[in-house]
Amino acid sequence: MISPKQVQEILDAVRIEDVVGEFVNLRRRGVNLIGLCPFHSEKTPSFNVNPTRNIFKCFGCGKVGDAVTFLREHESLTYPEALRWLAKKYNIEVREVERTPEQIAEQQLAESLYIVNDFALEHFQQQLFDTDEGRSVALAYFKQRGLREETIRTFGLGYAPDQRDLLLRRAKGAGHNLDLLKKNGLCSQDGTRDFFRARVMFSIHNLSGKIAAFAGRTMSSDKTTPKYVNSPETEIYVKSKTLYGLFQAKKAIRQHDECLLTEGYMDVISLHQAGIENVVASSGTALTEGQLQLIKRNTNNLKILYDGDPAGIKAALRGLDLALEQDMNVKICLLPDGHDPDSYVQQFGGDAFKQYVDENAKDFILFKTQLLVAETRGDPVKKAALIKDIVSSIAKIPDPIKRSVYLKECASLLDVDEKALHSETNKLITATLKKREEKAARQPGAASDSPGPADGDFGWPTEMPPGTPESESFVPLAKEKPLVRGDEFQERDIIRLLVQYGHQMLDKEGLTVAAYVLADIEESLGDFDNLLYGKIAAECHALLVAGQSFDQNYFLHHAEKEFSDLAIDLLASPWELSPNWEEKWNYPLQNQVMPDLNFDLDMRQALDRFKLRKIQKMCDLNLGRVKAASDAGDMEAMIRYMKIQQKLNETRNEIAKRAGTVLWAK
Ligand code: UTP
Ligand code: MN
Repeated sequence: MISPKQVQEILDAVRIEDVVGEFVNLRRRGVNLIGLCPFHSEKTPSFNVNPTRNIFKCFGCGKVGDAVTFLREHESLTYPEALRWLAKKYNIEVREVERTPEQIAEQQLAESLYIVNDFALEHFQQQLFDTDEGRSVALAYFKQRGLREETIRTFGLGYAPDQRDLLLRRAKGAGHNLDLLKKNGLCSQDGTRDFFRARVMFSIHNLSGKIAAFAGRTMSSDKTTPKYVNSPETEIYVKSKTLYGLFQAKKAIRQHDECLLTEGYMDVISLHQAGIENVVASSGTALTEGQLQLIKRNTNNLKILYDGDPAGIKAALRGLDLALEQDMNVKICLLPDGHDPDSYVQQFGGDAFKQYVDENAKDFILFKTQLLVAETRGDPVKKAALIKDIVSSIAKIPDPIKRSVYLKECASLLDVDEKALHSETNKLITATLKKREEKAARQPGAASDSPGPADGDFGWPTEMPPGTPESESFVPLAKEKPLVRGDEFQERDIIRLLVQYGHQMLDKEGLTVAAYVLADIEESLGDFDNLLYGKIAAECHALLVAGQSFDQNYFLHHAEKEFSDLAIDLLASPWELSPNWEEKWNYPLQNQVMPDLNFDLDMRQALDRFKLRKIQKMCDLNLGRVKAASDAGDMEAMIRYMKIQQKLNETRNEIAKRAGTVLWAK
């Protein structure tokens, strides 16, 4: 692990233009630099590098980020890898920090398991390429299935001959530990026989290309032998968090901003060989949440290639609501009868395959609706169940505009009233929100500690803020309960202040914007409607209390991806405000021109807007108390609350007057 201090040292040294400049030809334009975007193909440059903010942004494809993001995307590096890359570039010596004995032991075990697997791979490859039997049996098999030698090496294919304990003996001879071989499933538990025998071998790589496991395929067509056998799960191989081929596909997935998902090893390999490299396999099982996360890290666009029968497809579709919750775009493509992606691409070639997929991929929800509606003809009970099913899928989509488009399409496919579908969906959404709120109320700490899918849906910025005029395409959602909870806009503004110029000095004594802002809203810190914004504010507060300062880099490189994503968003946004933003969101913007020059005013206004919202809430709450006391005939309490009300109103009016804001009509 690299210590936080060193991370900071590295990040402080980074100049975005140096880093991007290693991969992209940049020209100066004003204070910025421009070039051709490396993330999408273009002829006129729309890729911008901003040295002042140390970030890049492409106005063509929308990619935005800092030097670390750039390296992660462009070079497919992990976060630590990117840091090491930068350290090397800037001649910073990286010293790793101490780990606990448990962590060291764990790491050592993992490393030993990898070493044993490496040995096994060498053995399987040697058996494949350097023995007569391997060449005539296994290599011939791969070649007969259309694989080239280069592909066979890229994917670490090999051969395990039909011998009782060849690998075992060789491994022992080379000094490998028998327990590790057992653990990796390379031999039987009594340590007498090889596990993989008479099979061609497939290596299963982890994300950084190390061998985590193997699969062996029989070459016989005898139905009584299992077609594939696989390594067991270990410390280095967790099936539900592994996607076959992801290591080889990662870069292409990001480049194409799309991931193709197949079922089998051979599908991945053959497509890759045919030039379609953005492909992974779930290895014959239903997609798990962990696998979805892996995809989501690289792209939001998932295209699933199915070759199964309708029953199998239906079962598989069930798991896909998970992807919708994550706001992923899911498409389904069925292959023609009798073909899987491997057989199709081997027979017709890569171009034909691409064309077939382009022409036949269907949106997941529409696909599901079409597939199932056929079965409900003339059966109202079945049809009602189907409507429920579809609506529950649609309700999981966080983006309201997307939802409304689906509702329209599905209403027509199902031949039901669109309005009825809307209202069913809204009911589900409201119920989900309510459940979530209840849960959050029960355990506020736990809710904010688990940034799972629950945090991502139904939240900013996908929902319209309260008071947004309804456009034609916008689904009117349960009006009495706006889906952006209360004060998120003002809260976001506070976070923007902290991220954008929290470190700026307000006076000669060294009072920073962050210190001022946080002191000013200290009472409301526990009171944020948006969990993420609240978490960030609390963290900033804790840092200040501990006497530590922070700047933009702190947020941009925060270990929590939610934080750094938001920071990038906030820092990039002054460049891309849409002209009708204000009108659209009914939200006055202060930072259209050079906000940095004007941060003092910006800060005071944002604070006022924030406080106004919080105080309005206190007013409402207190009014409720007044009413309750009056209903209960408790005059004393009533008077007390009315006095408080008066004070609150005064404060509110004062702030409103200063801010020149019309009070929210309530
Ligand atoms: P398939 O039976 O469709 O095989 O299983 P395939 O990938 O097309 O393989 P070839 O083309 O016949 O060589 C799809 C996937 O399901 C898993 C494997 O990951 C396989 O690639 N599977 C299948 C197993 O793990 N065990 C099996 O016995 C069968
Ligand atoms: Mn196949």
